[in-house]
Amino acid sequence: MRTNILKSGRSAIAAIGFAVAMTYSSMSAFAEAPLYERIGGYKAVAAAVDHLVDNIYKNQTLNKNPTLKAVHDLDERAAFKLVLATWVMENTGGPKIYFGRPMDKAHLPLNITNREFNVILHECLETFYQLGVGQKEIDELMAGLEAQREAVVTAEAPIKPVAAK
Ligand code: HEM
Repeated sequence: MRTNILKSGRSAIAAIGFAVAMTYSSMSAFAEAPLYERIGGYKAVAAAVDHLVDNIYKNQTLNKNPTLKAVHDLDERAAFKLVLATWVMENTGGPKIYFGRPMDKAHLPLNITNREFNVILHECLETFYQLGVGQKEIDELMAGLEAQREAVVTAEAPIKPVAAK
């Protein structure tokens, strides 16, 4: 009799242990990795920024803005790629290493319009397609970029964009 109670006590404990273990493993199966990891970490960020910045520098619509053209003519693009990569890493849940200025301060003197902001979003989208980023990750990346509109558009009141997909 005593042995039976001991046995059933042990199996109850084992059952609770099993349930806890299952809950843990199913929780971690559902926990999603940060966007930064899902897009491929620092190598993917570096590749995207490299592609994007080269296209931005030669974008003829953006270069109609004399302030932007002056920055592009200076051609400090290697430094810009570096600082932009740290922003992307930090803002996608990667290492917190952004060392540039806050978005509003960095863009205030540049006189950026909603149209110019949209052009940048289109260049970003082209980059993500070019590099084969998944649609779910693209949607998250584009939402994160769109959230910067108010800080970046300094030439007029920020407006809702045309669909960027
Ligand atoms: C979509 C969101 C945007 C993000 C996440 C972004 C990100 C950044 C970052 C991280 C910097 C560096 C700041 C620093 O050096 O302290 C920067 C600077 C700059 N951004 Fe943006 N930017 C965005 C939109 C735009 C747009 C729409 C334009 C122009 C149409 C633009 C043009 C520039 C230029 C020219 C600089 C260099 C400023 C300078 O060297 O003084 N950015 N941006």
